[in-house]
Amino acid sequence: MADSSNQDFDVDETLRDVRRCLEDLLAFEGRYFIVPPASLALAPVDSDTPAAVVEADDGGSLESFQQQICDCLRCPLGQTRKNFVFGSGNPGADIMFVGEAPGEHEDRQGLPFVGPAGELLTKIIGAMKLSREEVYICNVLKCRPPNNRDPQPDEVASCEPYLQRQIELVRPRIICCLGRHAAHALLKTDSSLGRLRGRLHQYQGTPLVVTYHPAALLHNPSYKRDTWEDMKWLRKLHDGTEL
Ligand code: URA
Repeated sequence: MADSSNQDFDVDETLRDVRRCLEDLLAFEGRYFIVPPASLALAPVDSDTPAAVVEADDGGSLESFQQQICDCLRCPLGQTRKNFVFGSGNPGADIMFVGEAPGEHEDRQGLPFVGPAGELLTKIIGAMKLSREEVYICNVLKCRPPNNRDPQPDEVASCEPYLQRQIELVRPRIICCLGRHAAHALLKTDSSLGRLRGRLHQYQGTPLVVTYHPAALLHNPSYKRDTWEDMKWLRKLHDGTEL
């Protein structure tokens, strides 16, 4: 007979998990956002695949660009970072997600969006019937601000040419800004997220949409529903797919 006296089983925590899953199920219309299939697990990007090196008009590649800038000391964050977090994913991606700045997990691993907010982003991408390996993910800042404080204007100004060049090299068909910091940096505005969401913007001719930062969804799960609407719209804009 099964042992029902399992000391590790926390009924309240399990009920909270079940409740969160049910809320997600409603918010994301039952897509496999809730329990992502194993295929959504983070897989290392195979840098030997032909897509790994994309030649830009000037003959540069994302990989060589990364090598050029990875020891950057243009701003004081270069002194405190553990790792420079350049970006990850398909260097020829059609969709580029731009976040704010690396956090603790990203700083430790040298990869963008690999902590709790990253896990959520991975699930969102999965719910869009895409994978992290198909899209490109990066941040405005390439180095972690101490204690995850907001990026400072001088740090954004120092790092901005790197993001601009990344966009030039990846040449996405659509950019998705995750949160206001990315939107403010690329759109040169200080509008609220509420005003920026739901509109089709342009970054130097590339269509750009804005949605909530995944970390905001962790704090306010009620934003998930709107985020899902944004992602359905993005997918439809991108290739006509109706999610
Ligand atoms: N938040 C971000 O904006 N970027 C990351 O890479 C991780 C968390």
